[in-house]
Order: sequence, then structure tokens, then C-alpha cells
Amino acid sequence: MKLDSPINIDYVRSDFPILKRKINGNPLVFFDSGASAQTPQVVIDAVSTFYSNYYSNVHRGIHELSQEATNRFEAVRGKVQQFIKAQHEHEIIFTSGTTDAINLVAKSYGRAFINPGDVVLISEMEHHANIVSWQIMLEDRGAELQVFPITDAGEIDFEAYKLLLNDNVKLVALSHISNVLGTINPVKKIISEAHAHNIPVLLDGAQAVPHMKVDVQDLDVDFYTFSGHKLFATTGTGVLYGKEEYLNKMPPIMGGGDMIDKVSFEETTFNDLPHKFEAGTPNIAGFIGLGAAIDYVNNIGIENIERYEEELIDYMLEKLNTVNGLRLIGTAEHRASVFSFVIEGLHALDIGTLLNEYGIAVRTGHHCAQPLLARFDVTSTARASLAFYNTKEEIDVFIEKLNQVKEILC
Ligand code: ALA
Repeated sequence: MKLDSPINIDYVRSDFPILKRKINGNPLVFFDSGASAQTPQVVIDAVSTFYSNYYSNVHRGIHELSQEATNRFEAVRGKVQQFIKAQHEHEIIFTSGTTDAINLVAKSYGRAFINPGDVVLISEMEHHANIVSWQIMLEDRGAELQVFPITDAGEIDFEAYKLLLNDNVKLVALSHISNVLGTINPVKKIISEAHAHNIPVLLDGAQAVPHMKVDVQDLDVDFYTFSGHKLFATTGTGVLYGKEEYLNKMPPIMGGGDMIDKVSFEETTFNDLPHKFEAGTPNIAGFIGLGAAIDYVNNIGIENIERYEEELIDYMLEKLNTVNGLRLIGTAEHRASVFSFVIEGLHALDIGTLLNEYGIAVRTGHHCAQPLLARFDVTSTARASLAFYNTKEEIDVFIEKLNQVKEILC
């Protein structure tokens, strides 16, 4: 380990078995963590031990296995609470992912708080999940979606945002970090401005929690959402944090087991938080894995991850600058390790396909953000998204191969 390095990269890389893989005879360079991050062995082991040692359903059985599964599953809620510094454990709702969490708020908050003529305000840099969920609900409620613009650098136009805040706006929703631009939004300022108008704010934190410390109380955010599979856990797990004062007033949107208090054919009463929003058997194994992933991140230290990734970001920006004809989409001053780009005369899909030949995994396409890409006059980009298990040496390989891809395709 270099003495000044915030993390021991050799140890870290050896924690992720998949990083030893070769693709087309080349060492894997995994630059697609923004889509799904890789899982360390401790997460794989935690999931496997659940199945081999205490597999059972939760909240239902008096027997040993069910009690053990329930205790370990519920302990994860406490880990999540501490990880994002929520005030109460019951403010942590388990979902299947960020999309599920945003949809839950759209449906439930919509029913409780949105009336004809009301407005939900989102930014121009949103993932489809943070656009379409609102559109579906707003159409049902006879209400309207409005969008606040971003600048050419991919930063929020704060003055334009402020001008759109008025009594009709019932919720502001935006990404903490853009999955395309990498912009880290000034969410504290955005939230405090919305609160000055008594408007709650939902943040899509899917791209933020793996990279930076998130403190929902310090942000004073009303709803925060993220996915387990971007936080080094498995797919099918996600979190909705909501302030108790809102969640208590919001109706359940899915009926089933666990979410009820008493059921009769005449009337049903509902369980307390958080179970009111968690109908049916949850992804128990997945959440056990999420708990292990949070422990793993805590052991490394999210601040160390943040510092290490800052070095990677600076290095990547310097190197991308040397590639002739490359246009970076998103040049915000405050940014994360997500780099979307186009190269003059080349199709993003061709770039991704050829990089794969060299063992380099990037994502290509619209990244579930078509309106954002339209804002930058492109329909598709290549995107390299890095995590703390990546290295400067991998960036060197990526840049070298990108130049070769250019020579082949031009
Ligand atoms: N939302 C994920 C991404 O940006 C899937 O790739």
C-alpha cells in the first residue's frame, strides 16, 4: 500500500473474486459500476450462509430458523439507518431497488398529497425512474410535471429552479448524483430553498451512496432512495428512507402479508412503519447481503473511498482530455466517477463493442435518461463509471485501448 493512499487497493481488489476474470484473454477492466457494482466475497458468503445455515421466512415463525432469519434481516434495517444517519429505524423501508422506492413514493404520496392543478418539480438530468413514476401518478391525479433546467456544464440552474418554486409545487425530486453526467448536485441548498416554501424533497441517491457519505438528517431531506446492487450487494434490494411525519400520513400501496394489522372482509387496518409498506415475503437473502455490504464499506471507510475516488476522477479527467475528438457530456466542477462521452464520427455502441474485445466493460446507450441526452443533442453515449476497486493503471489501459478503437473505426 502506498503510504499516502487512503485505501489498500491490493487488498480491496482481492476481496472481489470477479476482478480476477479475463475477458477475451485480457484482464477485466470493469468500468460499469454505475449500472451494477461488483460484490465482495463477504457479501457472497453472507448470502450463501443464509441459504446453507438459517434459511427460513421472516416475521412468521416461532421456530429457531425463522427467528434467526428475522433477527438478522431486521438488524440490516438498523445498519441502513446508521449508514445514512436516519433518526428512526422505522423510517427505513425495504424495497426492490431505487425504481421501486420512487414508484412507492409517487403512488402513495400522490394519493395522500397531490390534487388537480398541483405540480411535481424535477430536474432536467433525471433517470427515467424519476420522470415516468411521476408522470403516471400525475396523470391519474390531474396534476402536472414541471422541469427545472441545467447548464451546459450539466449543473443545476439554481436561479431558474428558485423561480419555479411556488404554492402549487407539492414535491421536488432530483438525483443526488447524475448517472450520466456525474454531477454531484448541491442538494442541501436545493432542499433548504424548497423547505422555505414548505415543499418536501425526494433524492434519488442510487449513484451517491456508493461514493460519498450521506447523512439524511444533515441534508434534512424528506425522502431518500437507493439500490443495494450499486452498493456492492445483490440485485433486487433497495431502500426508501422517508421522514416519519410523511410516511405516517401516506397510505400503503400494496396489500398482502406483513403490512396488515387486522383483516376482515369488511375492513382492514394496517401495520405500523416500516411494515405498512412492505407487503409479501421480502428479498431476505438480498438484504442479508446488503447488511454485509454496508459492514464492508464501513470497514474501509466511506471517507477513504471518497478520497481515493477523487484521485481517480482527477486522473481520468486529465487522461480523457488527451483523446482527440472526445466530448465529455457533463463537466460539472463537483463531480463523481461517472464519465459519459461521445467521439466525433463514432457510434457509442461500436466504441463499447470494441472496448469489450480488450476486456473493458463500459455501458453504452441512453442510460435511461433520454431527455437529458436530448438536452446535450446526443442520443447515445459511452459511459465509464468507476468504483473504489478501480485503479489508475486501469485508466491507462482504457485510454490506450480507446485510442486504438478510434484508429480502427476512423
Ligand atoms: N440506472 C443504472 C445506470 O445508470 C442502471 O446504469
